[in-house]
Amino acid sequence: MLFSCKHEIPLPIVDNPTGNPIDPNPTEICDLDTIYFEQQILPLFVSSCGMPNAGCHDPIDHQEGIVLTSYNQIINTGGIVGGNLNAGDIFEVITDNNNNDRMPPPPNAPLTQEQIDLISDWIMQGADNNSCESLFCDTLNVTFSSNISTLVSNKCEGCHSGANPNGGVSLTNYTQISQSATSGTLWDAINSSNGAPTMPPNTGLSDCEIATFRIWIENGALND
Ligand code: HEC
Repeated sequence: MLFSCKHEIPLPIVDNPTGNPIDPNPTEICDLDTIYFEQQILPLFVSSCGMPNAGCHDPIDHQEGIVLTSYNQIINTGGIVGGNLNAGDIFEVITDNNNNDRMPPPPNAPLTQEQIDLISDWIMQGADNNSCESLFCDTLNVTFSSNISTLVSNKCEGCHSGANPNGGVSLTNYTQISQSATSGTLWDAINSSNGAPTMPPNTGLSDCEIATFRIWIENGALND
């Protein structure tokens, strides 16, 4: 009796003899306690430290020989060593209270405490070149408040804000973002279409992030 009962319960399908679940794409296994370089750290560096033509650390201006738009560049030129906040200058300059030494320099706003914590946690976790998209990009029920505003503030606002936004394009609130969406310039920039420069420069967006923008624009670029 007991034996037959057991067999009435559908068992999970185990694909491999070790019993460990097989993920077709290992980078997609997300851990809530892990900081991910590609999704959380790189956009911060690109948007806060890689503004072109502003005396910044982009491939054109590379102030002091430091370029901060890819993993190898950030690690090598920033002198970052996993597990050691005192290696290199990066942590010191983003937390410096003196305006003359602080990065990003005025008139840019300093990094928020939340952004500083993210960078220090990532360094202390080993400063890995890790990636995990499913935690950060979800194309179900796309809305402005839950998806688009976060994407724009993490990936665009560092360059597209302030008195002299890059390309003369300011993307700091719904009105500005939706105007750029309805004119078609937003889509062309993230999709590299109609000769528009790829946004964000150097890194672009992931397919999932581009799809998120597309769904929001196709649904009418609403303030939802
Ligand atoms: C590292 C700085 C930086 C980041 C981050 C960035 N941009 Fe830009 N953006 C620029 C620069 C520089 C230009 C002007 C480029 C040019 O005219 O060649 C520009 C131009 C644009 C334009 C106008 C394009 C045109 O056809 O003239 C749009 C729209 C735009 N960006 C949207 C975005 C969006 C959306 C994001 C985020 C997903 C983003 N940008 C992230 C630097 C940035």
